[in-house]
Amino acid sequence: MKITVVGVGYVGLVAGACLAEMGNDVVCVDIDQKKINLLNSGKVPLYEPGLEEMLRRNKSKIAFTTDMKPAIEKSVAIFIAVGTPPGKNHEADLSAVKAVAKTIGQHMNGYKVVIDKSTVPVGTADVVAQIIKENQKKQTAFDVVSNPEFLREGEAINDFLIPDRIVIGCSSEKARKIMEDLYKGIARTDRPMLFCDVRSAEMIKYASNAMLATRISFMNEIAQLCEKLGADVKMVAKGMGLDNRIGPRFLQAGVGYGGSCFPKDVKALYQTMQEHQVNGSILEAVERVNEEQKKSLLPKIKKLVPELKGKKVAVWGLAFKPKTDDMREAPSLVVIDQLLKEGAQVVAYDPEAEEVAKKMLPRIAYAQDPYEALQDADCLVIVTEWNTFRDLDKEKMKKLMKHPNIIDGRNVYEPSEMREAGFSCIGVGR
Ligand SMILES: NC(=O)c1ccc[n+]([C@@H]2O[C@H](COP(=O)([O-])OP(=O)(O)OC[C@H]3O[C@@H](n4cnc5c(N)ncnc54)[C@H](O)[C@@H]3O)[C@@H](O)[C@H]2O)c1
Repeated sequence: MKITVVGVGYVGLVAGACLAEMGNDVVCVDIDQKKINLLNSGKVPLYEPGLEEMLRRNKSKIAFTTDMKPAIEKSVAIFIAVGTPPGKNHEADLSAVKAVAKTIGQHMNGYKVVIDKSTVPVGTADVVAQIIKENQKKQTAFDVVSNPEFLREGEAINDFLIPDRIVIGCSSEKARKIMEDLYKGIARTDRPMLFCDVRSAEMIKYASNAMLATRISFMNEIAQLCEKLGADVKMVAKGMGLDNRIGPRFLQAGVGYGGSCFPKDVKALYQTMQEHQVNGSILEAVERVNEEQKKSLLPKIKKLVPELKGKKVAVWGLAFKPKTDDMREAPSLVVIDQLLKEGAQVVAYDPEAEEVAKKMLPRIAYAQDPYEALQDADCLVIVTEWNTFRDLDKEKMKKLMKHPNIIDGRNVYEPSEMREAGFSCIGVGR
């Protein structure tokens, strides 16, 4: 099938690559000329495991351009995968989605399915349809479908190709057939495809992210109580997760959630609730607990290093989670800001996010490996649980550090083992 994907970010580029891998003829369009130039020179503007190889493998089936007109004209299916960042009042900013809808309308030369893959508020498909209609030179039939994306950065390719489910909100039989055809390769592997009305599909995305964020904030609040009462939140999560009604995932306490999705989607859903006179008290608390959690490491750091002025603090992990270079809303930004305000010197290490981080955190030093960051450090703070931090040489770490203090914001280590190895170690909720 001939497909256009608009937006070559974490979602659009992965979708484009995977759709090409599934045998389609794909054109990826973006307004960012720099990104398109990079992609045309065989480079990938973001870090996602396996993506570079997949793009290389499918070179003949995927093209990159800033020119939407020919891409729209030759495609049957057009994915909108542009950003929907938070607006002034935390509502989803739909300006990019609307701009794309306008261009699609202007260049529509026959029936197309326009697929909202960006995370957009309920009712957006109607808005997109209206804009397309208003901008068509001559009336042409089309359908707008909601097909929200659930991929996780770091696991994006697997999540796209072997998703838990594919949700398609669709009101026309013709569009449904095209969507079935488009995803038949995935459905063949027995992945469930849920067809529903468009508005429910749009809501499924927000409600899913809000539920996952709720689990995290809930566990972070339980962790605070565990610390007061002498329970171990890791054990508590394990015990809870064994209950089939609860399940083990998204029960890890830590330094709070970040990234480009949970924070903005929770706020946007809350905003929608406010607009429609729905109380939203759960989401309000989820967000508040998360903001508090991001700040919860500083008092722990100060327990071990009471005066931080002039002290050297090593920070391991900057990306909002492992296996990505995405720094949007990363808890590391809050932790490092607090440390700098206290007058500490920060040396950070992240396996992939350094380049992105340098633009957001220009006042800190960067190490080339985890050990280098520890040289003469008064304290180590772990903010992102990259696997590489799990199995390091403890003796070497201790020798390098001025004082063997660890604040483990992701419960990577067993505090008792670290204490036995001679470290002072404080985790979260244990
Ligand atoms: N990142 C994730 O893990 C994830 C997961 C699921 C859903 N989503 C949703 O998918 C959407 C995209 O997210 P992302 O992380 O890929 O964003 P991103 O910021 O990485 O990429 C968005 C891309 O859209 C391009 N763009 C903006 N305006 C444009 C326009 N008018 N025409 C063409 N291109 C334009 C930008 O240049 C950018 O390359 C968002 O709605 C997001 O909420 C993201």
